[in-house]
Amino acid sequence: MATAKQEELLALKAKLRKGGGDKAIEKQHAGGKHTARERLAMLFDEGSFVETGLFVKHRCTNFGMGSKDLAGDGVATGYGTIDGRLVYAYAQDFTVVGGSMGEMQGMKISKLQEAAMKAGAPVIGINDSGGARIQEGVDSLAGYGEIFYKNVMASGVVPQISVIMGPCAGGAVYSPALTDFIMMVKGTGQMYITGPNVIKAVTGEEVTAESLGGAMVHNGTTGCAHYAADSEEECFAQIRQLLSYLPSNNMDAPPVFACTDDINREDPALNDLVPENPNKAYDMLKVIEAIADNGEMMQYQEFFAPNVITAFIRLNGKSVGVVANQPKAMAGSLDVHSGDKVGRFVRTCDCYNIPVLTLEDVPGFMPGTQQEYQGIIRHGAKIIYAYTEATVPKVTVILRKAYGGAYIAMNSKHLGSDMVFAWPDSEVAVMGGAGAANIVFAKDIKAAADPEAERAKKIAEYNDTMMNPYVAASRGYVDDVILPSETRKYVIAAFEALQGKREDRPRKKHGNIPL
Ligand code: HXC
Repeated sequence: MATAKQEELLALKAKLRKGGGDKAIEKQHAGGKHTARERLAMLFDEGSFVETGLFVKHRCTNFGMGSKDLAGDGVATGYGTIDGRLVYAYAQDFTVVGGSMGEMQGMKISKLQEAAMKAGAPVIGINDSGGARIQEGVDSLAGYGEIFYKNVMASGVVPQISVIMGPCAGGAVYSPALTDFIMMVKGTGQMYITGPNVIKAVTGEEVTAESLGGAMVHNGTTGCAHYAADSEEECFAQIRQLLSYLPSNNMDAPPVFACTDDINREDPALNDLVPENPNKAYDMLKVIEAIADNGEMMQYQEFFAPNVITAFIRLNGKSVGVVANQPKAMAGSLDVHSGDKVGRFVRTCDCYNIPVLTLEDVPGFMPGTQQEYQGIIRHGAKIIYAYTEATVPKVTVILRKAYGGAYIAMNSKHLGSDMVFAWPDSEVAVMGGAGAANIVFAKDIKAAADPEAERAKKIAEYNDTMMNPYVAASRGYVDDVILPSETRKYVIAAFEALQGKREDRPRKKHGNIPL
């Protein structure tokens, strides 16, 4: 039988767990959103979530706040297991003054971040908040600032996942922006520096919250987010899937799963996949599916820079990050956005001990004033920097085109690729035959009796000499030329051979990646 004090405790906990109370909960549900504690219960293994800091109270006395009790100070924090693995998490409670950030909410979250770092466990932050608690002024800013600081300290130490399930406005967006992954729910999750009302007042522009900073805006246009979900349930399923590819911290390896797919499986369809006409596209996703265990992958930034695919797969049960040019979009050329996407993905893989597989079919960096003015030089440099900096096992397969600077950038031997394979029809060269002939043989073509016939002859001559993988293989830049159908087994064997890879870099405070 419970004592009076025990009964009192249970009643108090039940009251605090109700957050802002029944009416506010109803409003939250009516808006298509779950409450903070419902969300944590959905995300974690059943019954595993342990809440901490439920009794924390704010200290603000401004504007009548002294008489207000804010349950948990508008955030639920704690830890539990997801698929049996320890994870720390917080969820802002919109039913309590709009989940707004006060001094003590900031303290709770930054304490949680520190505990996760000590324990070597991922941190998931569920954002649903009106931003800085206006009554608390600079104290609320201090709360944010300390979270940002911990975000940076934890960066590359434990995976950090931000979930946007409500408004996330003003400087508040910078905590998600500092984490490894941002997942957004369509229709309810929004991020923006200034909301629609302020925009209207300042510039007169009229825009809805969704079209300003909704899930697809950040997944497709800005590249700020990495995943979009139709519902909160789908978002949690995505998080569980994502965690299955990630280690708990930078000192661990990602989880290994029993491989149910033949590691020597050949796929004859790959032999016919690439069209003979080099200007014809094909779908690179088919190649990834053919190589991956059971054809399964989880794309990263699926809707941003579709000219390059980034995805997590497993090979022989182990996590691998794939970077692949997509000939179906912009002929697979590299532009400013793909520079950001590839650079960030390769660095994410490297800091969490995930080997990188590069599938290359790249005609070059995208030419033109638009790209140059947007800084293709500095954005493209991110790809070179990230690949060179990465010390995880790195394997490249050249499928078709590997031209010029883009050949070097896409994890070539020269940037430290551990193993480079090429398909027999691939072209490892400084540029395509037509472009090359026009420059090198311009005088011969002009002087010829039949310039067009001469041009065709010179193009053929250049192609015969240069447009193949064997020149690169003769120099050792390509380690082997393989049949497309054999790719899976060669790539798996290469990663197995690289399992114990150790590589050092010169000591330095930190590198200076072009941003
Ligand atoms: C204090 C807040 C609050 C805030 C919401 N509330 N935002 N209280 N500080 N920032 C309170 C409301 O007063 C209300 O309290 C309850 O939360 C629910 O809010 P509603 O407005 O009823 O909800 P809804 O209609 O869904 O609108 C949500 C909203 C809106 C769009 C987020 O509340 C809003 O615009 N809030 C202000 C957003 C904002 O400008 N924040 C400051 C940004 S500056 P009651 O008691 O009525 O239930 C910033 C700087 C951060 O964040 C810098 C970090 C470095």
